[in-house]
Amino acid sequence: MAAKSKVPPPVDSLTRSQARVEHKRLALEIEAHNERYYQQDAPTVSDATYDALQRRLEAIEARFPDLVTASSPTQTVGAAPARGFAKVQHAVPMLSLGNGFSDEEVAEFVERIRRFLKLGADDIPAIVAEPKIDGLSLSLRYENGELVRAATRGDGFTGEDVTANVRTIADVPHRLNGHNIPTACELRGEVYMLKEDFLALNKKQQEAGDTVFANPRNSAAGSLRQKDVAITASRPLKFFAYAWGEMTDRPAGTQHDMLAWLKDVGFIVNPLIELCHSVDEVLAFYRRIGEQRATLGYDIDGVVYKVDRLDWQERLGFVSRSPRWAIAHKFAAEQAMTILRGIDIQVGRTGAMTPVARLEPVTVGGVVVQNATLHNEDYIRGVGNDGQPIRDGIDLRVGDTVVVQRAGDVIPQVVSVIIDKRPASAKPYAFPNKCPICGGHAVREEGEAVRRCTGALICPAQAVERLKHFVSRLAFDIDGLGEKQIQEFYDDGLVMHPVDIFTLRKRDTRATKKLRDREGYGEVSVRNLFAAIDARRGIELNRLIFALGIRHVGEGNAKLLARHYGSIESFRSAMTEAAAAQTDEGNDSEAYADLTNIGGIGDIVADAVVEFFAEPRNVKALNDLLEEIEVLPVAQARSDSAVAGKTVVFTGSLEKFTRDEAKASAERMGAKTSSSVSKKTDLVVAGPGAGSKLKDAGKFGVKVISEDEWLKLIEG
Ligand code: IVH
Repeated sequence: MAAKSKVPPPVDSLTRSQARVEHKRLALEIEAHNERYYQQDAPTVSDATYDALQRRLEAIEARFPDLVTASSPTQTVGAAPARGFAKVQHAVPMLSLGNGFSDEEVAEFVERIRRFLKLGADDIPAIVAEPKIDGLSLSLRYENGELVRAATRGDGFTGEDVTANVRTIADVPHRLNGHNIPTACELRGEVYMLKEDFLALNKKQQEAGDTVFANPRNSAAGSLRQKDVAITASRPLKFFAYAWGEMTDRPAGTQHDMLAWLKDVGFIVNPLIELCHSVDEVLAFYRRIGEQRATLGYDIDGVVYKVDRLDWQERLGFVSRSPRWAIAHKFAAEQAMTILRGIDIQVGRTGAMTPVARLEPVTVGGVVVQNATLHNEDYIRGVGNDGQPIRDGIDLRVGDTVVVQRAGDVIPQVVSVIIDKRPASAKPYAFPNKCPICGGHAVREEGEAVRRCTGALICPAQAVERLKHFVSRLAFDIDGLGEKQIQEFYDDGLVMHPVDIFTLRKRDTRATKKLRDREGYGEVSVRNLFAAIDARRGIELNRLIFALGIRHVGEGNAKLLARHYGSIESFRSAMTEAAAAQTDEGNDSEAYADLTNIGGIGDIVADAVVEFFAEPRNVKALNDLLEEIEVLPVAQARSDSAVAGKTVVFTGSLEKFTRDEAKASAERMGAKTSSSVSKKTDLVVAGPGAGSKLKDAGKFGVKVISEDEWLKLIEG
């Protein structure tokens, strides 16, 4: 099918929803290839094709990091070489834990134990409460005190031999020290990575163009299961011991004594573990740990309760694949408490200023969250544009303890503030009225929630987008200078402001790198580019005004302004006069009154134009540009063409040009365009797939022509 061989659009141009759809499709495709390659040993595509898919997925994830999920193929490549690891049979299976989420389930767990052991009414079994480390479990086999084998959990019965990798982890002793070392033992625990180490590693990976991981757990797993042990050695893996499998002799009779022994022989045992004597104590532990979670430095996804007496553990035994003597009390998956460390302002490509919460990193639903969108200043204030309270009307302050939520792959949200934990020194947040990027004035239009930077032409955050707009078809429309070239020239510092386009030739000396020596360029294409730029040194006023990228000034308003003012000089001087008179209360200048008197130009458009001219650097950018170009009067429609005065409707999918181009060509020829067919329509230009409009044309007896016939008509 033709669609398959189509070159995909640049990742930079994808909208969020396009990216999401493509991400899903790519992930499925890559997974299918993985299966054929790793499981069936029968790949159906070349490595290069596979790599290209993977790279595109990575590029999409780099641009939309919230699309990274734990199951994304980018998160599993580290694990892919696993097919090369030898299999290891665990002498005692590594089973999993039953889960509980509510206080009642925990109470029921203890009750069940008491019933099973037939304990008296006052006989509460001592319980060891441990944080549930979110890493991957490992079984270490020691014989005569020497580490002989390390294996992952695998399916619980058979794991992968990762002995060489594990020997690089500093927390894992190669030799057990101390007393009561059994002849043979399997000691177990969790490999994990500190959150800060994970973030630093991800940053490094991203800079090097390597896989970025969704969370510390994946990062630990990917780092451990490397064929190249040197890679594992370079990763900051850590290990907590908390359990065991086979033991030829057991050095202690209780869980907490066993943990003390593990510490004794050289392991690191989690320091937060406590021995509890009632359900209340156990639940208090759970809540305390929940509060500390954000500041622990490593991820936990709950706590684990274990009956302390090992003889009781043995009596209790297992139900299916989990012990009756232990339970995992999990934290609610998609919400977590953390601290709001700061609020940054991001400036988008259109000048929109979006506040972003900087959070103490916390894992929410399997992904480390350290930023969350705060939408706009009302959201921070806790009262919407419509006067409705947000978060019960509580504002957000730096230093606040907040609840962060993630649902599916949406951007994390700050859903509530724990007001009792607000530090006395926390101050209401003052939203900046200056752009943090260019220092330009930032304004909020009436009825709008967003504050925007007005430095359209000078703000680096907006520059590329403005330049792309500047050269777009309805603006300067320079042949050979499209979005791609603008991006390249901008990235290389060649074109930073509109005027730079027109000084490109002057600056194209051998001292820099000559354009013709750049990849993708040659003598001829550079000559053509310069000629195309020169051809646009004469530009109609309406196109110039549109090109400035002033908010709300589209093609139509640009024409209204151009027709009204007639020349760039009179437009500029009127707008500078109006800008000088602009205050928060309004504008009582004659120039402003004149502007709003133009039919079709309302207050919102007028204010946007005036704000643009109120920024002196915008005016300077315009003046610099005017040194290089000549402004022509508004394009006059031709009155002598075959279609002058006619009303034309375009329908169906046009193949020779876009709908906009078609309309523009019609207007240039003096025709009017309309989007619906009526008896006033003179001509319908129909491409393939035309539907109801074609029928209407039949109904009203309107002449229908093809795209080719239209071309002939306007060219003739
Ligand atoms: S005890 C027979 N203790 O949780 C069960 N597990 O869902 C022995 N985990 O596979 C496990 N912290 O990876 C235990 N303090 C802890 C733990 C812990 C994390 C993990 C472990 C296990 C999973 C079970």
